[in-house]
Parts: sequence; C-alpha cells; structure tokens
Amino acid sequence: MLQPPFPYAGQPIAQMSATELAEAVAFHNARYYADGAALIPDAEYDSMVEKLRDLAPNHPLLLQVGAPAQVVEAGDKVQHRVPMLSLDKCNTLEEFQAWVRGLAAAVTGKPVRSLDEAQLWADSATAQVVLTPKIDGLACTFRYRDGQLLLAATRGDGQVGEDVTHSARQVRGVPGRLADAPRGEVEVRGEIYLSLGEFAKVSAQFANPRNLAAGTLKAKDNPAIAPRTLQFFAYDVQGMDFASKRERLQWAAQQGFVPPPHQLLGLAQVPEAFAQAVEARTTWDFEADGIVVELNDVAVAQRLGTTSHHPRWAVAWKFHADSGLTRLVDVEWSVARTGTITPVALTEPVLLSGATVTRATLHNVSNLKRLALRPGDQVEVVRRGGVIPHIERVVVASEAEPIAVPTNCPSCGAPTRLLVRDERHPPVEILVCSQPDQCTTARRRSVLHYCQTLELEGFGDKVVDLVMEAGLVQDPADLYTLQAGDLQELPRMGAVMASNLVAQLDKGRRVPLQKFLCALGISSLGKQTAGLLVSRGDLAALRQLTVAEVAALHSLGDKTAEQVVGGLAERSALIDRLLQHIEVLVERPSGDSPNGPLSGQLVVFTGSLAKMGRRDAQTAVVKLGGLAGDTVTSETTVLVVGGDEFDSPTPSSKLKKARKLQSQGGTIRIVSEPEFWADLEGRA
Ligand code: IVH
Repeated sequence: MLQPPFPYAGQPIAQMSATELAEAVAFHNARYYADGAALIPDAEYDSMVEKLRDLAPNHPLLLQVGAPAQVVEAGDKVQHRVPMLSLDKCNTLEEFQAWVRGLAAAVTGKPVRSLDEAQLWADSATAQVVLTPKIDGLACTFRYRDGQLLLAATRGDGQVGEDVTHSARQVRGVPGRLADAPRGEVEVRGEIYLSLGEFAKVSAQFANPRNLAAGTLKAKDNPAIAPRTLQFFAYDVQGMDFASKRERLQWAAQQGFVPPPHQLLGLAQVPEAFAQAVEARTTWDFEADGIVVELNDVAVAQRLGTTSHHPRWAVAWKFHADSGLTRLVDVEWSVARTGTITPVALTEPVLLSGATVTRATLHNVSNLKRLALRPGDQVEVVRRGGVIPHIERVVVASEAEPIAVPTNCPSCGAPTRLLVRDERHPPVEILVCSQPDQCTTARRRSVLHYCQTLELEGFGDKVVDLVMEAGLVQDPADLYTLQAGDLQELPRMGAVMASNLVAQLDKGRRVPLQKFLCALGISSLGKQTAGLLVSRGDLAALRQLTVAEVAALHSLGDKTAEQVVGGLAERSALIDRLLQHIEVLVERPSGDSPNGPLSGQLVVFTGSLAKMGRRDAQTAVVKLGGLAGDTVTSETTVLVVGGDEFDSPTPSSKLKKARKLQSQGGTIRIVSEPEFWADLEGRA
C-alpha cells in the first residue's frame, strides 16, 4: 500500500487534533531544517501551527517553531544593526505641501519656491509614493538567518531594543521561516498591534490596545492576553535590494508576512487620499494615528538619505490628535432654558489638545442610543477643531446596564417627552421636559440667559438662584419688580448690594431690539438671526411675521423660521409684561442702506474668511443693503468662498450645493473672498 507522502497529508486542518497537528508540524520542521525543503506551502504550515496554538498553547513544540539552533544575542538588549528611525511629521495640508516642496528641491537639486513648481515635479514619475496607515502599535524587527527566525526585538531607543523573541514569534503574521529566503541575514520590520476587535473582547482594564500589546509582548509570564492574539504588519525589509517600496511589500507578502494596506499614488493625489483615509479610518480594525507617505523609488530615496532622526524620503501625516481614551463615569441630563434635556457624558479626566476634559456632549438621545453607553465604558473622546468635546465611540463596553433615558425631568420631575426632529438626516430624537415653564432649571436658565444677554451686572447665577428660591422672580419680567427692600432681606445680601442691583435694572430699561430678541432665549434666535430680523421692522412688526415671511426674507430655512415665529408667539405674554417695564429701541443697523451696492443680493459665506469673521462679514453685507444667509438655497445670489475651499478635495456642502445649482442653470455666483471685497471696493 502506498504511504502518504507525509503525515495527515490532505487532511483538513480544522479537523485535526492537537496530537496530530504536533506530529505533522514536527515532521515538517524536521524536513525543513534538515533539508531546507518544504513539502507543503508555508500558509498551510502556518495554519497548522496556528491551530496547534489554539488547541495547546503551551505545547513544547511551539517554543521550538522556527527556533534556531543557537541564539546569537544573550540577555535583554539587542543592538540594532541598522538604526530603527522615527518619521518626520506633518499635521496640516500646508505642512504637507511644505514637505513636498522640500522633497522636490532635494530630489531635483534646485530650489523650489512655489507650490506650482513643486506641483510640476509632484506630477512626474519620480514622485510616486506608497501610502500606508501609520499604525499605532509597537515597532519591532525580526531577524532571519537563512530563512529561519533568529531574533525579535523592539525598537527601544532606535539604537538598542529589547529581545522579545519568545513572545513575538507567536504573533500572527510572523512566519517562523521565510518561504524563499536568501542566504544570510534579512530583517523584516513592522508594527505589532492588537486589533480593535480583540481589544474589545478583553476586560476594560487597559487604557488602549497599544499598551496592552506592549505589556503582552514584554511580559515574562502570564500576560493578560496570549501573544498569538497580536498581529503584525510588515512595512520594511533590511538586508535585501529592491527597486521600490512596493516590491519590498510584495516580497514580504510572499514570505508569509502581512503588509499594511497600501496604495501607490502620485504625490499630487496624496491630499485627497489623506481625506479619504480620515473617513475610512473608522472602519479599520486597528488604531492608526496618520498616514505614512514614502517615496516608492528606492534609488531616489537612498540618494536623499536620512537624518539621525528620520529618513528624508518619508513623512507621517498625522490625523488630528485631539482625541483620547478615557472611562465614562456617568451621564448627566442637562436641562436647557428651552426645556430641552441634553445628555452630557461625565468622564475621567483626559488631556485633549492641551486641556483637561471631564465632560463631553452626547448631543441627543439618538446618539446616546447609538453608542449604547454604560458606566465604566472605555470611550474615545474627540475634540475636533477646538469645538466642544464629544464621545466618538465606545472602545470597550463595560458589563453594566446601558444608561437609560429618564422618564421624568431631572430638574422638576415632570414627565419627559421624546420629540423626533426629522428636518435632520437621519432624524434625531430629542428629549424635552413636558412643562418647561414650570421647570425650575429651565426657568432659572432662561432668567440667567436674559440677565447675561442684557449684561445686567451683578445678576450672576448666585443672585438669580437667590431671588428665584425666595419666590421673588419666576421669569425675566419679574426682575423689574424687585425692590431694594425685598432684596436686602435675602441671605448674604446687604443694603448696598441690593440697591446696586436695582440700579442696574433701572439703567437697563432701554433695550435695543436685537439684544431684546436674543434675551428671549428662543431656539435659533441668536445674535445673527436677530441682526437679520431687526432690519425688517420694529418689534410689533416682527411679531406679525409669518413663518413663510421669515423663511423667505432671509433664507433662514423653514425650521429656523418656525422656531422664531413659534418662539415669539409662545412668549407673547412674557413680552407684553416686559414691555410694561422696558422700552425696546428700534435701531436699524447704522448705514443700512436700501440702495446700497448689495441691495437685492442674498449673500452666503463658506470656508474660513481672511478679512474678518463671518458674523462681521454678514453685518457688512446687511449694511451694504444686502441680506446675509446661512444656507445656500435657490434664492442665494452670491456664495463667497474663503480659504482654500475652491481647490479643496472636500468642498463644503454649501459649495457643493452652489455648484449643483449652477449646473442646473441657477444664477448664483461663486466668488472667492478677495474677489468679493475687491468688487465691492470698486463699486463703493
Ligand atoms: S515606515 C523610519 N510605515 O512609526 C521607519 N512606519 O513615528 C519608518 N510606523 O517607529 C518605517 N506605521 O515603526 C512606517 N505604515 C508605517 C508605520 C510606521 C507605524 C512607526 C514606525 C516608526 C514610527 C515613527
């Protein structure tokens, strides 16, 4: 009878027992080390080893897999033969472009002053680059001799690393031997990481996957997770010549390594690819903190050389670093003056772009439900562009019960209601107090808001609390009924303070219309909208406006118009009472000229403006007789584009909308910010 050529040939690995696997692996090891010839594909051999690890993690054979007869380095320290360098970094498009200019100059040997010049070169063939995610793991090097794994070491300080052979050889994606290795030594370098999927499975006691990976790799015994749970992306090969970075990655893949996801591109395409990576990043199963951009042409790269810190042919373009991991402590429900109840995450302190953050907005109930937050969750807090921090995602869920949406207002105890705001896509659920007028927190906030808007000195939260708790004030109109004698009786309030407060109120009895409108605390009716409304008439006239009129007048949109008109109607009684105490001044913005150069124009701004802030720009438009809007609609006549938006790979939604309107035959003009002001100067 014919003997099978080797034990268990052709048998499905999934069905093999540990003993069978061990036998097969031992057989192939012996064949390979003795004869240098493999009888089965490496992938199959690796699967057997992997499966054996699953079934019998401590099998003595595993400790021998790929083990060399002799280990060259003894002890913990490993001197790197070629230093493991760092990477040059950039954080913004401008910094990246500056890097490209420097690179263009270094490659061409000529100074490159402008972006255009750099662009010319960036379009050429030598400017091909390979893009890989910058993996947030542990840099590690694997040394092979004659195809056998000899040693694994961490990066350490770049010159001297730590021997982690014992654990690192168990990492997935690290072959014990190379498929078709050259004779002599090669080193394969890359990043060991813990996938987010695996990280999510382990308990929440680790700050992030990177720390857990490091702990596992360096643990002398009993790590929190098995080293085989870790994975390896190979991005570099030392000791062999390749014409290009891409070939290097391909060779690594042929040897049984896993290269990181990569793209070969012209330098000019990098900004767009970066923007795409920012989007795609959320779907990656590993942490990455940027994109590594490397020249593909090895000969050109070698000519450029390295500094003592980094190679000159590569740069890491970092994602916005203003995010961090922390633990969710609880959710607080904050009642706004309008009665809206917003969930706020309370977290353990985390340092984000230089500030310690302990509170992060959760926006609304839909978002809370999406995140399914539980106390003790490990969460990522993100603070993009300096705005209020928010909870980006749950990294590791705790086992506690998910946080429930309160059925009663945390401030007044009245039942809550969930409203669906379907003007947003997708629609969002908002929690509101069903009796905002009686809700103390909501009332307190609305009185405080009134005082702050009218700059009533002395009426801070302490005084507002005092007068409200004493029952002297229920709403802003009651403020004007306060008597020095009453105030004086309150705790911690002397006669002087009492009369100062009353004097403040008296001083503020003439209120400009715009301020008055803001002080009412109507959703959507802030300074900007109020500024637009006041050019349309006095308070009495404004109170008569219909939703359609407001919406049409300023292209504020139906929802804003509804809130403005509805808010004024709801506060009708309050406004009437306030008018018994104060005078609302109708002052049209000075210089508001019906025949100004912008009369008949509805102007919208997008992007960051260089000449002045957006509000000032909108005010300037109104002064010149035009209207300023916040959204692009078919009525918009001019869209003014600031900053680099024109050429941006990610145009704003306003710019996209305007272009679409143009393509449909609309008459909207799209002009750059400098063009817009220059044109006005020309006509003034
Ligand atoms: S390229 C000079 N590609 O980031 C070595 N490095 O901050 C650069 N890193 O220690 C090799 N992901 O270990 C390269 N896709 C990637 C990377 C990457 C992470 C590490 C690298 C280096 C560190 C520099």
